Amino acid sequence: MSADEAKAAAARAALAEVKPGMRLGIGTGSTAAHFVRLLGAEVRAGLDVAGAPTSEATRRLMETHGVPLLDIDAVDDLDLAVDGADEADSRLTLIKGGGGALLREKIVAAAARRFVVIADASKHVARLGAFPLPVEVTPFAVGQTTRKVARALRETGCAADAVSLRMAGPAGKPFVTDGANYILDCAARVIPDAAALAAALKRIPGVVEDGLFIGMAQRLILGRADGGADIIDVA
Ligand code: A5P
Repeated sequence: MSADEAKAAAARAALAEVKPGMRLGIGTGSTAAHFVRLLGAEVRAGLDVAGAPTSEATRRLMETHGVPLLDIDAVDDLDLAVDGADEADSRLTLIKGGGGALLREKIVAAAARRFVVIADASKHVARLGAFPLPVEVTPFAVGQTTRKVARALRETGCAADAVSLRMAGPAGKPFVTDGANYILDCAARVIPDAAALAAALKRIPGVVEDGLFIGMAQRLILGRADGGADIIDVA
């Protein structure tokens, strides 16, 4: 059984939380893609739900699978958001943004009364930071912002502070987010104090949003390769 089957198992377990009439937030990434696919099958079988996508990629995927789209601005809140993560610790603090969608993901998760994270077990870590923390920044003065972000990492005790501009591919151009911003990937290695780092990043004018999701998720569903899933609820 592969990691992909574990991701599908997590998505399947999250589907049990979806009830008729719900307004959903729909995440981005390979695990969330399983959720969209499974949700599409339920919609075809008669389930009445609509979802606000966290990226243009997810919007297209929802259209492909026939999941009705919801304009997040047309509602005050969402019943449930379901999304993947790059890392999650046992307090359900997350690193997100590996797919570059962290800004919309955070806006959608913050609008949801319940936020459920789906992942394979490899995403559950004792300490955050091995996965480089994505930070969305304005293209203007990106060099200035990069140096300030590196200082914020240093000053909050991260084990390393290599900060690199995410590139889109062989053309050598920076990756551009759905919000027309850039992403800095921060090789923190270990993040000893996520709240302090998030606060330091928020003080930098060129930072649009960081990939630390603190106190937002209520449940982490870790899919297993045998098709089952383990659940960690916030304490
Ligand atoms: C997208 O920007 C990310 O936050 C994803 O949710 C995260 O990268 C998880 O992606 P996978 O499900 O593909 O691992």
